[in-house]
Amino acid sequence: MHNTQQTLSDLHGRSYGYKVHDILNNHLSTPGKMIRPKLIQLFAQLFHIEQEKQYLISRSAELIHTASLIHDDVVDEADLRRGERTLHKKTSNSLAVLAGDFLLARVISELVAAGEFDILKTISEALEDIVEGEFLQDQLKKNGTNSKDELIEVSKKKTGALLAWCCSSVARISKAPEEIVQKCHLFGEKIGVAFQMIDDNLDFSETSGKDQNKDLKDGLINFTTLNLLKNYPELFYIVHQMRGTTCESIPWSETQIKTAQDETKNEVDIILHETKKLFSEIAESQTTSNENIINSTLQVFAFIDQMKERSK
Ligand code: IPE
Ligand code: IPE
Ligand code: MG
Ligand code: MG
Repeated sequence: MHNTQQTLSDLHGRSYGYKVHDILNNHLSTPGKMIRPKLIQLFAQLFHIEQEKQYLISRSAELIHTASLIHDDVVDEADLRRGERTLHKKTSNSLAVLAGDFLLARVISELVAAGEFDILKTISEALEDIVEGEFLQDQLKKNGTNSKDELIEVSKKKTGALLAWCCSSVARISKAPEEIVQKCHLFGEKIGVAFQMIDDNLDFSETSGKDQNKDLKDGLINFTTLNLLKNYPELFYIVHQMRGTTCESIPWSETQIKTAQDETKNEVDIILHETKKLFSEIAESQTTSNENIINSTLQVFAFIDQMKERSK
């Protein structure tokens, strides 16, 4: 597999010398966990797609992901990302929005150059869903009365859409039947919802490399806060009073928040169990060696198990 630096390096091409590279090169030198390329690699192994195609899908996913985070940090007015100041804090909102746009344009030109029009169409749809997810979340922030179903709807779009694209694109490029492509899509979407639930737990952490209590400060009742309020209804008014404020001192005990986080993890367990079942069906539909099916399944299950334990 191409390493981290290779996946995001060489943004220049025809735009060699463009000013936008100065801030992007600096920004990309602190990469994230690269979970999308890791998942794509596992799917590529099962579906036997060539290395070059795997690289194209990984790079497109990571570029779209990076652009969506740069834009998300402007939308959320976040100060910290990956333990560093966010791009818009280092530069300005305008330059950060434009730098994100540049990355989106780069994905389009690279997929067109590779002649991968199906993949381009579906990644554009995934991006539309990310935007819609952010719009739906904006409404939830404003009315503050979200239900778990509404949060699932938001996370399917803002987080699940790109992960669904990662998995389904590998199947699509391998010319797998549409039914399998759709199963891969569903697998990625579920992984995305589970990933977002853990992200919501981490919103309360001091050591995630991102702003602490950001969701509540932004007015959002996230998955973990919903569990907190379910278990401790006496916190309802005070939590709602804190929405949209700077809320430096929090009104719940460590035990209360840990109980809510554990409950979120139990909900994540149920989804991850479903993803394992789905992946087994996908793997068994492949006409590859038993050894490859077993290896892929073990590696994907290990990936799934690690998701719950992440701390960043
Ligand atoms: C963070 O994504 C945003 C969400 C989709 C919840 P990651 O946790 O994958 O971010 P990095 O790339 O590792 O920083
Ligand atoms: C993640 O949303 C951004 C996208 C998936 C586009 P959040 O706002 O919940 O994620 P973090 O916590 O900033 O990474
Ligand atoms: Mg954010
Ligand atoms: Mg956000």
